[in-house]
Amino acid sequence: MIPRLRNPRVGRHAASGLIQHDDVQAWEQLNEQPFAFRHGLAGHPLLSIERLARLSERAFDRDHYKRYFKAAELKLPRDTLKARFRENIEQIGENGKWVALHYIDEMDPEYGDLFDLLLADVEEITRRPVRSQMTWGSLSVFLSAPWLPVAYHFDHETNFLMQVQGEKDLRLYPREFGTLTPPEIEDFYRHNPVAGIYRDDLADAGSAWRLVPGIGVHHPPLAPHRIQNGKDVSVSLAFYYVMPEMEERGHVYQVNYCMRKLGLRPRAPGESALSDRMKIKFMRALSTSNPRTHDELLYSGVSRLAAPFRWAKHLREGRA
Ligand SMILES: [Fe+2]
Repeated sequence: MIPRLRNPRVGRHAASGLIQHDDVQAWEQLNEQPFAFRHGLAGHPLLSIERLARLSERAFDRDHYKRYFKAAELKLPRDTLKARFRENIEQIGENGKWVALHYIDEMDPEYGDLFDLLLADVEEITRRPVRSQMTWGSLSVFLSAPWLPVAYHFDHETNFLMQVQGEKDLRLYPREFGTLTPPEIEDFYRHNPVAGIYRDDLADAGSAWRLVPGIGVHHPPLAPHRIQNGKDVSVSLAFYYVMPEMEERGHVYQVNYCMRKLGLRPRAPGESALSDRMKIKFMRALSTSNPRTHDELLYSGVSRLAAPFRWAKHLREGRA
């Protein structure tokens, strides 16, 4: 049984039509194929640059703020960092930076309610009880200065990226083995978020999407993508969630990572139900039973299991 880490605000709201679903057939491809949809968040007061700059100060309520700074910066007083972070957002049109604010649904109840409204819409469209079944989900906002790219990568979650301000180009590739190799995915699941290796033949492959205010694009889990911002400041909102079967699939890849390090050739997820079940059980037994964060839920087991391989690497490279 995979533990669940749901925001307590989730499950309170009914669908409100923030997400529109003109294309019913597209939504039937959820988690398999990308598709575009219309949404009502362009010009939303919670997503103005001024409001997001104010929200950024709430990141400092938890230790989690440290992820936004380099080690050298963390020696500065917290108030200096708080002011600097806020300024980075306020001056996004001039400073050439890219700023992400993660877990905003947990930082402020107004954003928690927005997250719940979006999930309620997805439930109504898909007729699936996402909120009662998901193991975790969250809301992030991305602010980008003109012309900045986001490098090729892939994510674990069922993701919806919605454009609020500015325009950008997104290229999405077929999920999992449609684009990636088993070692790339296994490396990702031992906790390397940039495990995807870009190849020249991907330049014009996949599907191209133009994100403009009021348009969103669904990213299936493990579908690699890259982004190029346009001539203006871009503000995008992403909401994402994970269903138990994706956590389990991640655990199979984690065991496969270690098996491959031992010189074995593991079976890919889905090849053998019995082998998958054993791997999931094994990884759950190694994992923290009461995780506080999604990282702990998904990665605590593989961190323990992969530690000897890291030591071996250190020894080989003469660092230990
Ligand atoms: Fe992404």
